[in-house]
Amino acid sequence: MHPMASEIPPSIVLQSRRLRVSYGATVAVRDIDLDIPRQRITAVIGPSGCGKSSFLATLNRITDMIPGCHVEGSVRLDGDDLLHPELDLIQLRRRVGMIFQKPNPFPMSIRRNLDLPLRAKGISLGAERLRLIEHTLQQVGLWDEVEGRLETSALALSGGQQQRLCIARALVLEPEVLLFDEPCSALDPISSGVVEDLIVQLKGRASIIVVTHNLAQARRMADHVAMFWHEEGTGRLIEAGPAAQIFEQPKHPMTAAYIDGSRG
Ligand SMILES: Nc1ncnc2c1ncn2[C@@H]1O[C@H](COP(=O)(O)OP(=O)(O)O)[C@@H](O)[C@H]1O
Ligand SMILES: [Mg+2]
Repeated sequence: MHPMASEIPPSIVLQSRRLRVSYGATVAVRDIDLDIPRQRITAVIGPSGCGKSSFLATLNRITDMIPGCHVEGSVRLDGDDLLHPELDLIQLRRRVGMIFQKPNPFPMSIRRNLDLPLRAKGISLGAERLRLIEHTLQQVGLWDEVEGRLETSALALSGGQQQRLCIARALVLEPEVLLFDEPCSALDPISSGVVEDLIVQLKGRASIIVVTHNLAQARRMADHVAMFWHEEGTGRLIEAGPAAQIFEQPKHPMTAAYIDGSRG
């Protein structure tokens, strides 16, 4: 057991300590000590290349799939050692879902995109899976748009619809945490707004972390903000706190400069 485990307050769902991610000799981020509040939206902001995606990738161990990637330090998910070498990764990825910048539905029907994870979760009754599929599509605001074409390819949907389907695919597993890496960056402005509103609506259903370089979006969405920056070629967490404090009274001069647009 981690000596600090009993000291994590229940309001914190994820806690990283001295987290360091490297790719061969390149250290992407180091010394990340961050607490993620439960059932809130945390925005991770900062300029390109400062390790935001690398940090996020450790939280559902996507990092295990990147050749040469090495993670050190500790991450606890509700008291569990998330970096434990024998952790069940399938189980972890059900608990911690991830949505990427580019929507990545499975190249199969809309229905199958949700049916597969439901089967994997052990829901054997077809009628029950259909009920959950409809329910989840309603939650992401897609049901009315796709009701008549559930058997058609998900790849025929628009980008924004595909992204909402990917969110639905994560949601059917009832995750504790949802990770979003620049979820609106590849979308047109209207779809971007729809997906942004959807993420805000999911608050309370899961603890949410959103990486975004869109500061206006971070202001609209976030309860908490973590500000990453480069220091000597390595990504660092320079400041974290409630969104109002970070945006109105940043403590770190680089946060202030980034927020007012003069740096980054
Ligand atoms: N798969 C990879 N292999 C090697 N270096 C990588 C890889 N992914 C990211 N990096 C490097 O790690 C650093 C942080 O990248 P990244 O986490 O993608 O930052 P951000 O998401 O903030 O733009 C960069 O220097 C980047 O080049
Ligand atoms: Mg990134």
